[in-house]
Amino acid sequence: MLFSAVLSLAACASLASAHAILLSPAGRTTGTQSSVSGEGIKIPRFPVPSSLVSASGGCVDSTAGAPALTVAAGGSVPVKWAITIPHQSDPGVRIALRFPGETQFTIVKDKINVNDLTATVSLPAGKSGMATLQWMWATEEDGGFYVACSDLNVTAPKPAPKPTPKTAPKPTPKTAPKPAPKKAPKKAPKKAPTPTPKAAPKPAPVPVDNTPIVMPVVLPPAQVPDASEIVLPGQ
Ligand SMILES: *[C@@H]1O[C@H](CO)[C@@H](O)[C@H](O)[C@H]1NC(C)=O
Repeated sequence: MLFSAVLSLAACASLASAHAILLSPAGRTTGTQSSVSGEGIKIPRFPVPSSLVSASGGCVDSTAGAPALTVAAGGSVPVKWAITIPHQSDPGVRIALRFPGETQFTIVKDKINVNDLTATVSLPAGKSGMATLQWMWATEEDGGFYVACSDLNVTAPKPAPKPTPKTAPKPTPKTAPKPAPKKAPKKAPKKAPTPTPKAAPKPAPVPVDNTPIVMPVVLPPAQVPDASEIVLPGQ
C-alpha cells in the first residue's frame, strides 16, 4: 500500500510538481496545461528546447481557448504568477508573444526574477488579433522549467475617430494673379459739344447812300383849255 503510493508519486513527480504557476492572464486549461491552474507542470529538461519557442511547441499540448484578456494593440499586460515551491530563479522567467500568422514566439521580457511575482509587458503597436502569451520559468537548480500559455484578444486600434472635420484649410487658392483690370479708359462720355451758337453773321451793313435820289418829275403837258369851251360869263 505504502509502496504503491510511493510508486505513483514517483511516476508523477517528473511531470507534475508544484513550483510556479501563471495566474494572470489566466492560463489555458487544455491538455497538460489543465494542471497549470493547480500546481504547475515541471518539464524536466534543461536547457529549454528550441521546440518550445516554435509555433507547435510553445505551449506544450494545450490549445487556444477563449481570450483570457482583451487588450488594445500597443497596450500593456500585467502578468502575475505564484511560486508553489521555491527554487533559485536563474535564468528566470521569460515572457513571449506570438501573433496570428507568426511561427515563432517573440521574447518580450527575459530573465525576470521569479520572486518578483509580476511583470508588465508592452504589446507592439502594430499587431493585433488572437495572440498567445507564453510564460515560462526556467530554473537550472530545479533542472527544468514551467510553462503556461494564455490567449489574448489584441484589438487593433480603432480607426482614428474621424477627425472632426477640421475645416480643412482650404487650399489657399493660388491667387491666380487677377489680370489687373485694364483700366478701361473711362470713355469720357463725349459731351456732345454744345454747338457754339454761331453768331448769326451780322448782315453786312448796307452802306447808306445819302445822295438824294432825284426823281425826274415828268409833268403832264399843261392842259390848255379849248377856247370853245370857255364859257364866258354873260353869254
Ligand atoms: C476581440 O475583441 C473585440 C472587441 O471587443 C470583439 O469584437 C471580438 O469579438 C473579440 N474576439 C474574440 C475572439 O473574442
